[in-house]
Amino acid sequence: MAGYWDMHNHILPGVDDGSGSMAETLRLVQLEYDQGVRNIVFTPHYRKGMFEISLDEKEEVFHRTCETLTDHFPDMKFYLGCEYFASPHMVERVTKEPRYCMPNEHVILVEFSYTAEFDFIMQTVEKLQSAGMTPVIAHFERYQCLHEDYALVHYLAEEEVLLQMNCNAILGKEGFRMKRFCKMALKDGVVDLLASDAHNTTDRSVHIQETADLIRKKFGEDTVAELLQTNPQQLIKLN
Ligand SMILES: [Fe+2]
Repeated sequence: MAGYWDMHNHILPGVDDGSGSMAETLRLVQLEYDQGVRNIVFTPHYRKGMFEISLDEKEEVFHRTCETLTDHFPDMKFYLGCEYFASPHMVERVTKEPRYCMPNEHVILVEFSYTAEFDFIMQTVEKLQSAGMTPVIAHFERYQCLHEDYALVHYLAEEEVLLQMNCNAILGKEGFRMKRFCKMALKDGVVDLLASDAHNTTDRSVHIQETADLIRKKFGEDTVAELLQTNPQQLIKLN
């Protein structure tokens, strides 16, 4: 088997609030490897005023990290992406600079504030789509507006937008309310992608295998393959 993908995580060292050192990065990648992951898209945060490491510096850290990682994990593949915190001017910015995007420059992983208004989410999605981009909404199980009105999840799922869910939320590590939401969305078949969103080896670690086992038990092997292999792979190749 070609292995799972982890297309959203903060494993690249020293670039955001994720891994703080190469040693921690190695431990995290080892966890990914042991859990069957063979492709990792590193997605450091970009958030104005909070995480603003330069793109050149980020690329340099990526290349340096890959040199170390390929020695330890020769059969894994690594890519550089980004998790972009939505702002009113993001579309102008990301269309000019592909390094804010996923490895495929037509795809952007976008996160919103927990309390973002649904109208703002939709406006951002529509602006990105008009600019020829495919938005992936990061950890969509978090947003308050979708909890308050679950019908909006179906509305989103019908748009040309991809919905990414965090493994930890599925497993209940982010509380019962979130777990219940995840269960409902998985049952409804509206989830497109799963990812670890791992930040460290303690409270926000990699739990891909446990999640795959749970989903296999409830929804079957085809769903596991779709959410952790086929869909992320297609996303990277999407034109
Ligand atoms: Fe994240």
